[in-house]
Amino acid sequence: MTDLVHHLTHPLIQHKLTLMRRKDTSTNSFRRLLHEIGILMAYEVLRDMPVQMITVETPLEAMQAPTIDGKKIVLVAIMRAGQGFLDGMLEVVPSARVGHVGLFRDPETLNAVEYYFKVPHDMGERDVIVLDPMLATGNSAVASVDRIRATKPRSIRFVCLLAAPEGLANFHQHHPDVPVYTAAIDRQLNEHGYIVPGLGDAGDRIFGTK
Ligand code: URA
Repeated sequence: MTDLVHHLTHPLIQHKLTLMRRKDTSTNSFRRLLHEIGILMAYEVLRDMPVQMITVETPLEAMQAPTIDGKKIVLVAIMRAGQGFLDGMLEVVPSARVGHVGLFRDPETLNAVEYYFKVPHDMGERDVIVLDPMLATGNSAVASVDRIRATKPRSIRFVCLLAAPEGLANFHQHHPDVPVYTAAIDRQLNEHGYIVPGLGDAGDRIFGTK
């Protein structure tokens, strides 16, 4: 594993992920667990965010103290499963801006096809965190980061819950400078492009559409 892959092994994250993998976990529980993992992963992903020193008056005296400028952070959800990560992350950085990328997977080629793209205008001074629970083939992630990169943000990070080794390799072949934060790296993709053992279709499990 390279420095570009951050495997988040905190037991709280791992415990919640195990519950999410179970096939009999309800939609309600799955969604709540993803929300909680979003909060926990945000701590790790934001660990080295730049801080600004500001002057604050404590009851005793003035001091210089660090702050994160939340408005500089853009959370970009890859629809639709990335939406499930948003709430938890926004709980930690409530003033973050939010962008969306809409892609669907061509079922035959497994290539990503874009149908929606919206991010804030002034991306040059912003740090982007791209959210998609599943880094499977990596094609959606590559296509999303291609589009985001064209807006010239200050930095880009990619956050997922599960990654397949094939997806990580594909992603870093195209974006060797973008760190990936993941709670697990599973064995492989199956012939349908699903991560195994995985957790099934994340979008269906979040939204209860199956
Ligand atoms: N998308 C999913 O939701 N699950 C997978 O296993 C792969 C892609």
